[in-house]
Amino acid sequence: MRILLTGKNGQVGWELAHSLSPLGTVIAMGRDQMDLSKPETLGSVIQKVQPDVIINAAAYTAVDKAESEPELAMTVNGIAPGVIAQEAKNIGAGMIHFSTDYVFDGNSPSPYKEDDPTSPLNVYGKSKLEGERGVIQTGIPHVILRTSGVFSLRGNNFLLTMQKLAKNRKQIKVVDDQTGGPTWSRAIAEGTARILEQSLTKDGVNFLQSGIFNMSCGGETSWFGFAKKILELSGLIKNTELISIPTIEYPTPAVRPKNSLLSNKKLKQVFHHEMPHWQDALLECLNSAKSV
Ligand SMILES: NC(=O)c1ccc[n+]([C@@H]2O[C@H](COP(=O)([O-])OP(=O)(O)OC[C@H]3O[C@@H](n4cnc5c(N)ncnc54)[C@H](OP(=O)(O)O)[C@@H]3O)[C@@H](O)[C@H]2O)c1
Repeated sequence: MRILLTGKNGQVGWELAHSLSPLGTVIAMGRDQMDLSKPETLGSVIQKVQPDVIINAAAYTAVDKAESEPELAMTVNGIAPGVIAQEAKNIGAGMIHFSTDYVFDGNSPSPYKEDDPTSPLNVYGKSKLEGERGVIQTGIPHVILRTSGVFSLRGNNFLLTMQKLAKNRKQIKVVDDQTGGPTWSRAIAEGTARILEQSLTKDGVNFLQSGIFNMSCGGETSWFGFAKKILELSGLIKNTELISIPTIEYPTPAVRPKNSLLSNKKLKQVFHHEMPHWQDALLECLNSAKSV
C-alpha cells in the first residue's frame, strides 16, 4: 500500500504521518514538494509516486485572512482537491480529504448531519465546500472527513493561543455564544487510520462507503468553555481572569457559525469508529507533552 500524504507539517498531517505508517509506505509531502496554490504542478508528483491512496491534509486554514485572500484560499482549498482527485482517478487511486464545520451557517438547533444543506458564511467555508465538490465530482473512491476546532501541541491553534495569553495577560475575553466540538488532531489521525485499515484490499483501496463523514470529538462547548478547560488542565487558571463575551463584542473579518456541532453517527454506523469526548482528548493531548 502506497499512501501519499499532503500537508505533512500541519496539525493533522503530522499526526497522520505517524498513525498511517503501520498501514503501508507513507510518502509524506510538505508545501515544498506539493504546493496546492499551483494545482498544475500536482499531477506530475502524483504520477511519479503512483500511490494507492492520497490523503490530503494540506489546506489554507487562516479563516480570517482568507477574507482578504479569497483567490489563494479558493485555489488551495477549492480547486486543488479536485485536481488531486482527477489525478487519483487517472492512476486508479482513492482519496481521503478533510473539510470543515464552516460549510454550515450555524443556524441549526441540533448537530449537523452530513446531508444537511450547506451555506457557508465565510470565504474559507466556501472554498472548502468547493473542494468537497471537486473531489466528489470525479467519482473516485473517496472519504471526505468534516472536522472542527482542531487543536494540538503544534502550529497555530486555540489551545496554544490560550496558554500563551494566560502567561502574558491579566485578562482574556473569550466568545461564549459559538458552540462546537474541539477536536484533537491525533484523534482525527487515528480515526482516519481506522477507516483506511478497513478499506484495504489486495488491489488497493475500496472504502466501505464513499462520501462525506463528520469526524469531530464528542461533547460540545463554546470557545469560552474550551478556554476554561484548557487553563484549568494546564494549571494556568489562576494566572489570568477569563471573561465570557458575546460574538458581537469580538468582531472578526470572517463571520463564524453560531452552532457548528457535527453529528458523528454516520462515522460510527459505517466505519464503527467512535471519537473521544473533547475533554478526554484535551487531557490526553496535554499529557502527551509530558511523555515527550
Ligand atoms: N484547524 C482547524 O481548526 C480546522 C477546523 C476544521 C477543519 N479543518 C480542516 O482539517 C484539515 C487539516 O487542518 P490542520 O488543522 O492540520 O491545518 P494546519 O495545521 O493549518 O495545517 C495545514 C497544512 O497545510 C499546508 N498548506 C497550506 N497552504 C499550502 C499550500 N499552498 N500547499 C501545500 N500545503 C499547504 C500548511 O503548510 P505549512 O506548514 O508550510 O504552512 C500546513 O502544513 C484541513 O483540511 C482543514 O481545512 C481544520
